[in-house]
Amino acid sequence: MPDLTSLQQQAETELAQAADAEALETWRIRWLGRKGLVQQAIDHLATLPREERAAYGKAVNAFKQAVQAAYEARAQALKEAQLAAELTAEGFDPTLPGRRPAVGRMHPTTRTLRDIYAIFAAMGFQIYTARDVETDEFNFQLLNFPKGHPAREMQDTFYTTVPDVILRTHTSPGQIRAMRDYAPEPIRVILPGRCHRYEQVTARSEMMFYQVEGLAVGRNVTFGDLKGTLVAFANQMFGEGRKLRFRCSHFPFTEPSAEVDIDCIICGGKGCRVCKYTGWLEILGCGMVHPTVLRNGGYDPDRFSGYAFGMGPERIAMLRHGIDDIRYFYSNDVRFLRQLGW
Ligand code: DAH
Repeated sequence: MPDLTSLQQQAETELAQAADAEALETWRIRWLGRKGLVQQAIDHLATLPREERAAYGKAVNAFKQAVQAAYEARAQALKEAQLAAELTAEGFDPTLPGRRPAVGRMHPTTRTLRDIYAIFAAMGFQIYTARDVETDEFNFQLLNFPKGHPAREMQDTFYTTVPDVILRTHTSPGQIRAMRDYAPEPIRVILPGRCHRYEQVTARSEMMFYQVEGLAVGRNVTFGDLKGTLVAFANQMFGEGRKLRFRCSHFPFTEPSAEVDIDCIICGGKGCRVCKYTGWLEILGCGMVHPTVLRNGGYDPDRFSGYAFGMGPERIAMLRHGIDDIRYFYSNDVRFLRQLGW
C-alpha cells in the first residue's frame, strides 16, 4: 500500500522547488496529471480487500485534496512573485499618466440637425424620414419639374443604371411621400436627410450634403404662418433679435416662393467678408405649396393650403461657427472636429 504521508511530503518538497511556470506545469503533470502519482494512489484502491477500502479511500481522498491545495497555493504565489518582479523591473514607472483612449465626438452636421429637430419639435413638427434613392417622378415630375424643365439645370443629378432611378437632389420629394401617407389629415413635418448633386466640389458646394425640408398642410395655412415659423426658428437657432428678409424667388413646387436671409450674425448687418458686405446671409428657400403639388400629394387645393421650406444644415453650421469651407465637413479630418470642441 502506498505510504500517503511520505508521498505527500515528497509532492510538497518537489513543488517548493518548482520556481517558474514551466517547472510548475511539469510538476502538475507528474502529480496531478491523468496518469500521475495521485491517480496511481487512487487506482490502488481497487486492489485492496473489501474491509480495507473505506479507510484507504478516505485517506487517499484527503491526500488528493491536500496535493491540489498545495498546487493552487504555489501557482498563486508564483503569479504574484512574477507581477512583483515586473512592477519593480527597470523602465516601468507606474506614476506615468495612462494613455487616454480616443473619444469620438459629435459631427457638426449631426449636432446642427439635432438642434433643428428640437426647435421644430417644440412647434409640433414630426420627423418624417423619406428615401435617399428616388425616382425622377418624385424628385422632379410630381414637384412640377417636367422633363426638360429649365429648373432641373440647377440640380445636376446622379443617375443609376436603373432607368429613372436617381439619388435625390433635394429632400422635397419627401413632401409628396409625406402628403400621400397622411392626406387628407393636416400635417406638420420636417424631412431631414442626405442629398446628392453631380457638381464641382468647391468651398461652397459638396456632392453630398444634408437638407432639412419643412412642410405644413392644413385649412387656412397662410404665408403669415410660414413667416412666423421661420422667425421663431431663426431666433432660436441664431440668437434672439434676428431680422429676416424675404426675397421673391422661384421654385417650381411653391407659389409664391421666397428666399430668406438673416441679418449677418458676424457683423450684425454692418457688412463684412462673410456676408459679402451686404449685411445679409441667405439661409433657406420657401414658399406656399403649389396647388399642383398639393393635388399630387392627395389634397384638394380648394380646401387645403400649405407652406414648405428647405434649408442646408451644413450652411447653417457654417454661419453659426464661422466655418468658411463646406469641404471640411466630409473630408474626415479630426482636427476640424476638435476645433469645434464638442
Ligand atoms: N428643394 C430646394 C432646393 O434644393 C429648396 C427648397 C426651396 C425647398 C423652397 C422648399 C421650398 O421646400 O419651399 O434648392
